[in-house]
Amino acid sequence: ASRGLLEGKNVLISAGPTQESVDPVRFFTNHSSGKMGYALARQATNLGATVTLISGPVDLTTPQGVKRIDVQTAEDMYNNMIEAFDHNDLVIKAAAVADYRPKVTFEHKMKKKQDDLILEMERTKDILKELGKRKSSQFLVGFAAETDKYLEYGRKKLVSKNLDAIVINDITAEGAGFRKDTNQVTYLHTSGKQQQLALSSKDEIAKGLLQLIVSDMGEGL
Ligand code: PMT
Repeated sequence: ASRGLLEGKNVLISAGPTQESVDPVRFFTNHSSGKMGYALARQATNLGATVTLISGPVDLTTPQGVKRIDVQTAEDMYNNMIEAFDHNDLVIKAAAVADYRPKVTFEHKMKKKQDDLILEMERTKDILKELGKRKSSQFLVGFAAETDKYLEYGRKKLVSKNLDAIVINDITAEGAGFRKDTNQVTYLHTSGKQQQLALSSKDEIAKGLLQLIVSDMGEGL
């Protein structure tokens, strides 16, 4: 991609995990490091975009020129994404959002008891699904992390969440997925176009994905 392909465009990206607290010292989370989402933010900025990055708790420095908003929970991420959504032309959800959270968050540290502990979990809001409902002119891209039947599950998410494209991570593949510096993905567009991006650094994958996205955004740009 040449410089400037996203000049004048506002791009919203989510990255990293969420943390869902049980009490002040314990939480549920996942293995997302934020590397994939941060690489997308960096490369979109290089293409001239104005980038807002909604980030779960990660150990990464903010790419230069990117406006970063830190969040902790799925609920925080939902609120920030919904608020920013209307002002953006391209939205990419690379974050790994919790599907469940503890039904109750205790104000004080839970005390150890003799018996087993049973925690009740409740569903979080599906951010991507809500964005798909609200979509007007935005180009909406989701990610899917799958361990099996990844093309089939990816296509289902593309349709059910009203996305324009989905990036499917087969997280069982060598050198792909959570925490790694490299990735290997399949890009699926609503038109049925399907493109594999071979194993390379997350920055190279981000460049390749943005090139595909820009061409599918087409004349809208
Ligand atoms: O951060 P890294 O270590 O670099 O790893 C990258 C990654 C593997 C986390 C990333 O590339 C990736 O695949 N992110 C999506 C992981 C995920 O949560 O997939 P999912 O299949 O559970 O969710 C599908 C989509 O729905 C995602 O775009 C997710 O952001 C979104 N979602 C999920 C749950 C929820 N409550 N709201 C959502 O919007």
